[in-house]
Amino acid sequence: MTPMASRQMQTLIRPLVRGLTPYVPGEQPKIKGLIKLNTNENPYPPSPRVRAATRAAVDGRLRLYPNPTAQPLREKLARLHDCRPENIIVGNGSDELLALAVRAFVEPIVGQAARLSPAGKTPALLCSKSLVQFLTPSYSLYPVLADIHGAARSAVPLSANFALPSLAELKRARQWDFRAALTFVTTPNAPSGRGYRAAQLEELCRAQKGVVLLDEAYVDFARENALALALRYPHVLVARTFSKAYSLCFQRVGYCVGHPDLIAALHKIRDSYNVNGLGQVAALATLDDLPRYRANFRRIIVTRDHLSRELEALGFRVFPSQTNFILVRPPRFPAKSWLQKLRDRKILVRWFSDPSIRDCLRITIGRPDEAAALVKVAKAIL
Ligand SMILES: Cc1ncc(COP(=O)(O)O)c(C=O)c1O
Repeated sequence: MTPMASRQMQTLIRPLVRGLTPYVPGEQPKIKGLIKLNTNENPYPPSPRVRAATRAAVDGRLRLYPNPTAQPLREKLARLHDCRPENIIVGNGSDELLALAVRAFVEPIVGQAARLSPAGKTPALLCSKSLVQFLTPSYSLYPVLADIHGAARSAVPLSANFALPSLAELKRARQWDFRAALTFVTTPNAPSGRGYRAAQLEELCRAQKGVVLLDEAYVDFARENALALALRYPHVLVARTFSKAYSLCFQRVGYCVGHPDLIAALHKIRDSYNVNGLGQVAALATLDDLPRYRANFRRIIVTRDHLSRELEALGFRVFPSQTNFILVRPPRFPAKSWLQKLRDRKILVRWFSDPSIRDCLRITIGRPDEAAALVKVAKAIL
C-alpha cells in the first residue's frame, strides 16, 4: 500500500466525521473473578427456553436471510401490547431505533440551510426542525446521534434530584423548544434511576409539537410505564429493549411502538435485514416465558432496595431508583477514586465525567452475593 501522511488521510474523511466525539460504551473487560456492575446487564441468564430455541436455530438456516421485518416478533409484541404489528418496528437493539428516529424526523442543518434560503423560514423554525432535544443528565448517546446526523442539539437540565421539569419550568427555561423536531426523554431516567409519572409525561407530550421518543429501556423495573401514550398520541414513540430486563444484550433486539405513519417512516430507512435471525428467535422465545422474567425483575428490585439501605448506612447518598441500577454519591473520597479503589478489588462500576454527576457512581444491580461483596469491599475502603 502506498504510504499516505496521516493529515492527508484525514482529508478523505468528511469534516463532520473528523470532528465527532464518539459514544463511549461501558467497558467489557475479561478479568477473572470480576464483579461487573458497570453496564446495567441483567445478572440472571436468559430462560432455558431461550437458550434451547437459539441453539436449535443454529443449523442449515444460517445460510438464509432472516425475516426482513421481524414479522412474527412484531405480531407477538402487538398481542402483548394490544396494538397492531404496524405500530411496531424491531431494531438491532433500541440504540438503532434512536438513531433511525434522528434520521427520519430531524433535518440536518447543512442540507436545510441550503434548501430554505434565501426566501425561507424564520431562523427559529429552521432551528426547531433541526433540533434534537433532551434532558440532562440522561442517555449520553443522544448528543452523539445528533452530531452524527449534523443536527442541532440542546441539553436542558433536569430539576433538583433529577425530577422532570414541570411545563411551567420548561416554559421559563429559555433553552427548551416546544417545536423541537425530536425530543428524547429517558423514563425511568438513566443514569439517575428516577422514575417519572405517566401523567407528567403525558402533559409534556401534549405540549410538544415535534416527535417525542420516550426511551423506556429500564421500564420493567419501574412502577409505571407510558406505553399507552404511544398508542394515544400520533407524535409519541416508546422505545423498549430486550437487553436489560430480558437478559439479551448479546443478541441486540429492541423495538419502538407508535403511530403506523411514524413507524413506516422508520421502516423506510432501516437496513433491509436489520435484526439478526438468532436475535428474533431469542426474543420470540423470551415472550413465551414472561412470568420467569417478571420473577427476575422482582428479585432485582429486592436486591436494589436492600443494597440501597446498606450503602446508605455506610454514608452513601443513594438516589431513589426505579431501574436495575442505582446512582450513589460516595462518602470520604471523590467518586473517581472510588471507581479505581473498587476496580483494584475487582468490582467494576461506572463513573461519568458529566459535571452534574461527576461526584457519583452508577452501580448496576447484580445478584445478592455480588451486592454483599460490594458492601464488604466498600466497608474495607472506608
Ligand atoms: C437509556 C438507554 N436507552 C437505550 C439503551 C440501548 O439499549 P439497547 O441498544 O441494548 O437496546 C440503553 C443502553 O444502555 C440505555 O441506557
